[in-house]
Amino acid sequence: MNFTFGDAIEMGDAVNRQFLLAARPQGVVKETDFEYRELSVPTPGEGEVLIKTSHISLDPSMRGQMENRADYVAPLELGDVMRAGGIGTIVASNHSDYAEGAQVSGSFGMQDYAVSDGNTLPFRVFANDVDPTVALGMLGGTGMTAYFGLLDIGEPKAGDVVVISGAAGATGSVAGQIAKIKGCTVFGLAGSDDKCVWLTGTLGFDSAINYKTQDVAAELDRLCPKGIDIYFDNVGGEILDICLARIAMNARIVICGGISRYNATGPLPGPKNYFNLVFRRARMEGFIVIDYAQRFAEATRVMQGWIDAGQLKQQATVIDGFGELPRALIKLFEGYNTGKLMVRTT
Ligand SMILES: NC(=O)c1ccc[n+]([C@@H]2O[C@H](COP(=O)([O-])OP(=O)(O)OC[C@H]3O[C@@H](n4cnc5c(N)ncnc54)[C@H](OP(=O)(O)O)[C@@H]3O)[C@@H](O)[C@H]2O)c1
Repeated sequence: MNFTFGDAIEMGDAVNRQFLLAARPQGVVKETDFEYRELSVPTPGEGEVLIKTSHISLDPSMRGQMENRADYVAPLELGDVMRAGGIGTIVASNHSDYAEGAQVSGSFGMQDYAVSDGNTLPFRVFANDVDPTVALGMLGGTGMTAYFGLLDIGEPKAGDVVVISGAAGATGSVAGQIAKIKGCTVFGLAGSDDKCVWLTGTLGFDSAINYKTQDVAAELDRLCPKGIDIYFDNVGGEILDICLARIAMNARIVICGGISRYNATGPLPGPKNYFNLVFRRARMEGFIVIDYAQRFAEATRVMQGWIDAGQLKQQATVIDGFGELPRALIKLFEGYNTGKLMVRTT
């Protein structure tokens, strides 16, 4: 089928719409890096289920998977269905553990229908009354990332000063709220005044800095005169360096991500101020959320309690239309989203 970006794609009854990786991105992702295709709906085999996706998640890591380099997951080959997290409903089941009608999330790809045996991480079952935007957001991969990154790597204590970059995004907004729940003072960095107002007004951050218009170093000097106890890094680059220069004794730097470098084409400068880790007896540690998959149920229980108590809130940025998927990934890197970005495909 011929597809031009901007066309609405009608949902056919027996069609599996897909986006494939058509080209390796050079710098920022472009629409032409994707190819649209329609196939017939697959049939699940013995021990498998067929899932009809309703919401597909956009994640910064998708950019890395489009490149031809080994990472913590295998790179995609040209012509592969774009890898993506999603949530949907089991519409046919040949698996005794998973009934038709169940709401499930997992790595289902940029497509309407996926077949799964339930063994591929992070396949998860959610009760049908859980809002899919919450299951893919606060309780989804980015929520789990915030939970384990902040609590297990950051080890917050009441009274700690916590700084979070990418604070108005899916991961950062949850990490900041968990730090508040743990009694910390929390400062967020985000790319617009509206996002900063949301962080302080709705989520309870103590202050927020617009890193595009304000002097981040001067603002952090003003807000954190005794230094930063935990820096939860989602962006890397210059902001990581500014924070490294301001760490307190025994600080923890949680390397969650480095979105400022994901579209870079040449060699990247390392952090200049890393030696402060020695002077301040500090620790800088990265992690990958999937390593915590065995503990997702525990985190979900705890976080559901915080949601019920009104201590944990989310905003989802939901874009409508399957055909918007490539553009939505591009928008993620332009800061279009507040909270979790996803496309509703139905
Ligand atoms: N370690 C893990 O297991 C794990 C798992 C999930 C995610 N992550 C990482 O966590 C980070 C956040 O991911 P997410 O899914 O929650 O995405 P997100 O924060 O919801 O969305 C990305 C945000 O990054 C900001 N941004 C874009 N380009 C930037 C740049 N050049 N410099 C600074 N900020 C930029 C934009 O907000 P502004 O308007 O504020 O610029 C954008 O909204 C990413 O680095 C991701 O790779 C790690």
